[in-house]
Amino acid sequence: MTQDELFKVLVAHCKEYGFIFPSSEIYDGLAAVYDYGQMGVELKNNIKSYWWNAMTRLNENIVGIDSCIFMHPKIWEASGHVAAFNDPLIDNKDSKKRYRADVLIEEYLGKIEEKINKEVAKGKKKFGENFDEEQFRATNPNVLRELAKYNEVHNRYVAAENANDLAEYKQIILDCGIVCPISGTCNWTDVRQFNLMFSTSMGAASEGANTIYLRPETAQGIFVNYLNVQKTGRMKLPFGIAQIGKAFRNEIVARQFIFRMREFEQMEMQFFIKPGTELDWFKQWKENRMKWHVNLGMGAENYRFHDHEKLAHYANAATDVEFRFPFGFKELEGIHSRTNFDLGNHQKYSGKKIQYFDPESGESYVPYVIETSIGVDRMFLAVLSNSYKEEVLESGETRVVLSIPAPIAPVKAAVMPLVKNNEELTNLAQSIMNDLKYDFNCQYDEKDSIGKRYRRQDAIGTPYCITVDHESLEDHCVTVRDRDTMQQERIPIAELRSLIDKKVNLNNLLRNL
Ligand code: GAP
Repeated sequence: MTQDELFKVLVAHCKEYGFIFPSSEIYDGLAAVYDYGQMGVELKNNIKSYWWNAMTRLNENIVGIDSCIFMHPKIWEASGHVAAFNDPLIDNKDSKKRYRADVLIEEYLGKIEEKINKEVAKGKKKFGENFDEEQFRATNPNVLRELAKYNEVHNRYVAAENANDLAEYKQIILDCGIVCPISGTCNWTDVRQFNLMFSTSMGAASEGANTIYLRPETAQGIFVNYLNVQKTGRMKLPFGIAQIGKAFRNEIVARQFIFRMREFEQMEMQFFIKPGTELDWFKQWKENRMKWHVNLGMGAENYRFHDHEKLAHYANAATDVEFRFPFGFKELEGIHSRTNFDLGNHQKYSGKKIQYFDPESGESYVPYVIETSIGVDRMFLAVLSNSYKEEVLESGETRVVLSIPAPIAPVKAAVMPLVKNNEELTNLAQSIMNDLKYDFNCQYDEKDSIGKRYRRQDAIGTPYCITVDHESLEDHCVTVRDRDTMQQERIPIAELRSLIDKKVNLNNLLRNL
């Protein structure tokens, strides 16, 4: 199965098993908006718990808040979003389709990179063990030709980005012969800036309604509460404020399922520090966040950092944690050194003094900030795409299994009586379920053959299936089947809780951090 096919299958699986539904589906859906179903919401909540507990419980100097989506419109002027939260858009006059000019160029560069990698793979195959990749890249004429093309376009692109030169974006697209994938033509409009914030009005229009924005990031809710939290929590620098909440962006190109949505959720933490210490803290948070990701057990090789060449208007250092999605390595989380840009500007725009009195140095200053910001939905997609597997069993049958890291799996255990028309068995199974449900999210399932029930649980990623059979009535033992190994083990009912707990307790994951 190609990665493209895998992605389509994954999207269908998400719908079939109640993870994600297209929003407003009975009205034919709404572009780039999705609803989470009965399984999806459990997985999403578990991802959020892993993040929230790692931030606020494991760090005595990080506290959480929950600020509103609606905020004073001046906040978005102070933050720079009104002036600068734009994407460069371009339309194809023939297909009438709209694209992000920067994405068209990046995709073009990605294709050149792919060509180079294919050439290297061919070399590897040809020369086997004697292959020297560095030398091959430095001397192979095909690689050198593609690399020269890449460098030329890349340099022009970075310069255009830094200068905000929209005409140059269009010229690069024309010079590279980038065509619209729908019409196949180069008939492009000029490139224009498009602000990504959604606006609405507050109050009755006739009473002089105020235009307000749906927040495009949760971070500003933290900045404008900095003083409240610092004072009421008697926080000393360095300290952090964490928040999980919805954000909204009118994305021009909203594709790739929940990777880029118009309504999504962020988990953001702003870490307030003394000016001058930001690059040390930036390094520490990079390490800290990578540890959090790798600790989930989805393969260290599937993550990498991508340092930004062009920095956002508020940053003096920035990196992305990229994850290997089915469509390649893409941003999962952003880590930014935001200087004192936000607090400084809120001080200026609000007229309120936002300073920290440092008892050690006796000085007052506007703190600097390191931000970590990850999309819940993107994390969800990372987990699901990494977990989805189609395995051919010895019997020749295929099983679809989601090997979701057990502590964040939506359902932790399924309790099943071997047959449903035996009251003694169903009573015992239900009493086990009633006992376990206080500690774990469990499902009771008595329909269909045991084989079919196993398949259903594999498809939603349930780590354990517990079968109650006739012998259980005598020996007070049950058969426990492990999702990943498919091994079955007979264990006393009294030991069920500790067996499940060992594998699924989130605290075990947190303890490794
Ligand atoms: N406060 C900084 C900030 O918002 P960002 O890089 O624009 O930075 C942070 O966004 C994270 O939010 C991204 O790494 C991504 O995981 C998530 N994100 C951003 N836009 C998104 C979208 N349209 N759909 C889903 N997730 C998105």
